[in-house]
Amino acid sequence: MSPAGPPDGPRSLGAQRREARPGSDRRNPASIGIEVRGLSVVYGRFAAVAGMSFRVEPGESFGIVGESGSGKTTVLRAVCGLAPRTSGTIELVGGEPLPAPGTKPFRRLVQMVFQDPYGSLHPRQTVDRILAEPLSIHGIEGAEARIERALDEVGLGSGFRYRYPHQLSGGQRQRIAIARALILEPQVLLLDEPTSSLDASVQAEVLNLLEALRERRHLTFLMVSHDLAVVTHLCERLMVMQRGRTIESVSAADLAAHRVADAYTRSLMEASAGFRRAGVRPGKMPG
Ligand SMILES: Nc1ncnc2c1ncn2[C@@H]1O[C@H](COP(=O)(O)OP(=O)(O)O)[C@@H](O)[C@H]1O
Ligand SMILES: [Mg+2]
Repeated sequence: MSPAGPPDGPRSLGAQRREARPGSDRRNPASIGIEVRGLSVVYGRFAAVAGMSFRVEPGESFGIVGESGSGKTTVLRAVCGLAPRTSGTIELVGGEPLPAPGTKPFRRLVQMVFQDPYGSLHPRQTVDRILAEPLSIHGIEGAEARIERALDEVGLGSGFRYRYPHQLSGGQRQRIAIARALILEPQVLLLDEPTSSLDASVQAEVLNLLEALRERRHLTFLMVSHDLAVVTHLCERLMVMQRGRTIESVSAADLAAHRVADAYTRSLMEASAGFRRAGVRPGKMPG
């Protein structure tokens, strides 16, 4: 599969988003959100994340965008307990008492879809085994029906159940990674560049699938990507980060109208093919 998509891919992503959801509040009812305050993750003397704060409202789809190495993956890993939190707090929000980070109930509610589906799926496990594993870790019964349902929900069906990852296309592998995240019926999905390994046409399919799942299951999304066009496809609100810090917070509507305050945000718009063709003025790229 070619790593680069058709030249007009990201632009068509934006166009589909606008056609599908004209300007309404797309927040879901009855789900939970996340509040992050002053999060820092320090490795030795290097702060991969340096004092970030943001709040993802229940039912919202919130994006973080930044260049490679800015700390996006580390933020998600810290939220789900895979990266060591040096300081700051992470809290689920949404009414009833909710589990604390690092606990098993938290991990069931907050699931991550990793950036590279090939690396994150065990090469010698069948799809069936990959999907059964989280159920057995959490002691959940009814694996048979849950696996069938999860495969249906991601548009693959039971014919894929006994395949190995190498017998799947990139898009199919990412659908399995999404099914694995959904099988525990979480309320929050952490999405790490969920389409960056895919062709542009497959990217659009997977983003549309994620949006449909979000609506059907009343999910809250926290999604990170280096590509503004991908983030604005799913998210109404987003934060721009650079070197572990917040640069600015903007709405997708402001971005579409090119109402951005910071030169770095503008340079990200220039780097994103869809925005570039939509007429952002050229400027200096960050060093
Ligand atoms: N476990 C780790 N140990 C040391 N440095 C790390 C570790 N994980 C990430 N980093 C560093 O933190 C920075 C941010 O990484 P990452 O969060 O993966 O960025 P992004 O996802 O935005 O590309 C990078 O400089 C990376 O090398
Ligand atoms: Mg990353």
